[in-house]
Amino acid sequence: MLFFLDTAKIDEVKEAAEMGILAGVTTNPSLVAKAGGDFKNIVKQICAIVEGPISLEVVAKNAKDLVKEARNLAKQAPNIVIKIPMGKEGIKAVTQLAAEGISTNVTLVFSVSQALLAANAGATYVSPFVGRIDDISWEGMDVVRDIVAVLDYYQFPTQVIAASIRHPLHVAEAAKAGAHIATVPFEVLEKLFDHPLTDIGVERFNKDWDKVKKK
Ligand code: E4P
Repeated sequence: MLFFLDTAKIDEVKEAAEMGILAGVTTNPSLVAKAGGDFKNIVKQICAIVEGPISLEVVAKNAKDLVKEARNLAKQAPNIVIKIPMGKEGIKAVTQLAAEGISTNVTLVFSVSQALLAANAGATYVSPFVGRIDDISWEGMDVVRDIVAVLDYYQFPTQVIAASIRHPLHVAEAAKAGAHIATVPFEVLEKLFDHPLTDIGVERFNKDWDKVKKK
């Protein structure tokens, strides 16, 4: 399972890229608003850092305008993926963009049937939102697992991005569920490094090494 970073903050993208584990970036209007600054400039800066897929969301109300918005965004770099909200107009737009060879990521997916519609339309990625399903007392990871199984059974090339990831356990469970990618907020990425036994182990080795050096 690959890691995408779920952010529009440049410093976070830079730091994750330096770690060498960053396969791509996903953004959404809320993340762009949180990052602040000019959207075009944010996109330019992310594109300068990341070679992998960068998902940018379109927000128009109908397929025609979604496609128009998508074409403009896609022009900016070859690795831009158009993130399109699930819905009839969104799926019409995905069909058109797939025919034009523009990559898409169908977002706000909460069920197997929605994922199947996206896959049939030719979506490159489908993003089930784990945390938001958990928030309504449902099991978000079951949806990811079922989508992976169904798309795999019917041999769709559409890849599954586990999105709305809230904590490290979501990451491990997404990998076990067979998600191709987990898109993680920077705070969650940082937490993946932590284990109390690692901290204890490092401290013990450092103390013992000090003893060796003193001899
Ligand atoms: C990414 O593709 C999604 O937009 C994002 O993970 C949503 O996360 P949230 O549910 O925490 O807002």
